[in-house]
Amino acid sequence: MSVPDRTNTALPENEARTPTAAASVPLAPRAAPNWTWVPIRSLTPRHRERIAAHLIALQSSDRYLRSVYPATDGQISNYVDMLDFEHDEVFGIFSRRLELIAMAHLAHPVATTTVGRPTMSEFGVSVLPHASNRRFGKRLFEHAVLHARNRGVETLFVHALSENRAMLRIARDAGSTVERAGSESEAWLKPPPDTLASHVGELVGHQAAELDYRFKLHARQVSTLLDVVAEVKTSLAKAAHVAEE
Ligand SMILES: CC(C)(COP(=O)(O)OP(=O)(O)OC[C@H]1O[C@@H](n2cnc3c(N)ncnc32)[C@H](O)[C@@H]1OP(=O)(O)O)[C@@H](O)C(=O)NCCC(=O)NCCS
Repeated sequence: MSVPDRTNTALPENEARTPTAAASVPLAPRAAPNWTWVPIRSLTPRHRERIAAHLIALQSSDRYLRSVYPATDGQISNYVDMLDFEHDEVFGIFSRRLELIAMAHLAHPVATTTVGRPTMSEFGVSVLPHASNRRFGKRLFEHAVLHARNRGVETLFVHALSENRAMLRIARDAGSTVERAGSESEAWLKPPPDTLASHVGELVGHQAAELDYRFKLHARQVSTLLDVVAEVKTSLAKAAHVAEE
C-alpha cells in the first residue's frame, strides 16, 4: 500500500535515510497501572517553542523513529514552523512543571468527503525518554482515535519503521491493520461511528485537561512567588546582619 500524499506528521526530509540510527528499543519495566486518566491538552500556535524543545530533546534514536529519517534540529524547526493548527490537531501531555513530555500530531488530509470531512488522517507521536512506558503514547493514540471518530474521519493512518515495536503495538492494540513493507510499516484503523457518548467523552476530557493545566500553572506561579519571597527574606537578613556589624 502506498504512503498517502499528505504525510505531514513526518518532519521535512532532505537527507538520505540511515537505518542504523534507530537502535532496537529495550522494553523498560512497566510502572504505570493499567488505566489512569491522563490530561491531554490541545496545543496552539503559542506552543510552537515548547513543541520544538520537546522534539529537539528526543534521543537521536527516537527522533529517527518519529520521523523515519535522522532529522536535524533545523528540520525539526521547519516542521514546527509549518504546523497548521487550524487544519490539523496537535495535542500534548504536560508534566507538573509544565514541560511538554509527550505530544501527537493528527494531520488531516486535503481530501474530504462530500460533506467536507477528512477521509484519512495521519498520526505521529513522541514521548520524552523520562516519561516513556507510562502509556502516554497509548493514551495519545486513543485521544486521536476519539477525535478522528467525532470528526467523521474514515481512516486513521500511522507510518512507522517495522522495528518500532511500541508504536505498532499501540496501533494493533487499538484494532489497526498493520502492513509491513520491509523496514517500514503502515497501520490503518477505521474509527467507529461517533455517538453522543463519544462527543461528551471528548468534551469532558478537554475541560478536565484545561482545569488540570490551570492548576499546574497556578501551582508554578505560587512556587515562583514563594521563591521570590524567600530570596527577599534572605537579602533582608543579610542586609540587617551587615548593618549590625
Ligand atoms: C512509540 C512511543 C510513542 C511509545 O510511547 P510510550 O508512552 O513509551 O508507550 P506506552 O507506554 O504507551 O506503551 C504502549 C505499548 O507498547 C509496549 N511497548 C513499549 N515499548 C516497547 C518495546 N520496545 N517493544 C515492544 N512493546 C513495547 C508497551 O508495553 C505498551 O503495551 P501494553 O499497554 O500492552 O503493555 C515512544 O516510544 C516514542 O516516543 N518513540 C519515538 C517516536 C516514535 O517512535 N513515534 C512513533 C512513530 S510516529
